[in-house]
Amino acid sequence: MRQKILMMGPIPAAQMQDLEENYAVTRLWQAQNPEETLAEIRQDVTGIVSTAWSGVSARLISALPNLEIISHFGVGYDSVDVQAAREQGVIVTNTPDVLTDDTADIGIGLVLCVLRRMVEADIYVRSGQWGNKGAMPLGRALRGKTIGIIGLGRIGQAVALRARAFGLKVAYTSRTEKKDAGDAMFYADAEQLAAASDILMVTCSYTQETHHLVNAAVLRALGKNGVIVNIARGKIIDEQALIDALESGSISGAGLDVFANEPDVPSALCRLDQVVLQPHQGSATHETRAAMAQLVVDNLKLYFEKAEVLTPV
Ligand code: 8YV
Repeated sequence: MRQKILMMGPIPAAQMQDLEENYAVTRLWQAQNPEETLAEIRQDVTGIVSTAWSGVSARLISALPNLEIISHFGVGYDSVDVQAAREQGVIVTNTPDVLTDDTADIGIGLVLCVLRRMVEADIYVRSGQWGNKGAMPLGRALRGKTIGIIGLGRIGQAVALRARAFGLKVAYTSRTEKKDAGDAMFYADAEQLAAASDILMVTCSYTQETHHLVNAAVLRALGKNGVIVNIARGKIIDEQALIDALESGSISGAGLDVFANEPDVPSALCRLDQVVLQPHQGSATHETRAAMAQLVVDNLKLYFEKAEVLTPV
């Protein structure tokens, strides 16, 4: 009998087809009545594919007595209750490495957009202001500034590599000082890092410990010329404290790819010119999403064929 796979959300078409050719797949996000669908199949489900927006709760795990593997489409797996999975002996995999470069690119892109005012400039041209008002107000240079990276993991390191090429100095904070950090200066916590940085870049994973790690005190320490960029998870920043800091001018700008309650973005952020917003685009390229989906499929296949996986969390 074919393994029964519960899909919580979509993955790219080619890998979706591959899964549907090899397994009995239920697309839960398209079910008319998800509760009823679950009740019908729950005894048979052996695998789940989950996403950042359609995760796996402890309640769902306990409702699936024969679940063996959760193959998560994403590197950050905060939407999956990994603790509950472990307690029920369920393996969880994610998709690291394949999305590192794209996510770091979005991070540096946001730094450029905010400091060089590129989105404002685009609007300036389209709205005819260039012709009417003349040159736009100046932006700020990257060269010689310090970027403070919160979390120097795979994505943080990729941001550091790019930042150096732009002439930025690199500093960081993480749970422990890294041996492979090169000339990047280590700070013991986010507040000290912010005080030493012109640009603060959030790249760490979202956990209980990193919830609201960037709070009002950290933003105050970043200072009135400071810029914050978040390419990790929205809830690492206290979003209301960020809005207050931007509105009062106690920091100068922000580049945000992630938000506390996606896809809802506070209207206060949308009103601010010094903020550049992205709809969670870190891994959003054809190439990277295909590579992530392939890893999701490969983890499932290897598990069901040989009881092994490529990228366990
Ligand atoms: C999303 C991400 O997972 O990898 C992550 O942690 O946040 C993104 O790549 C992706 O959009 C699919 O859910």
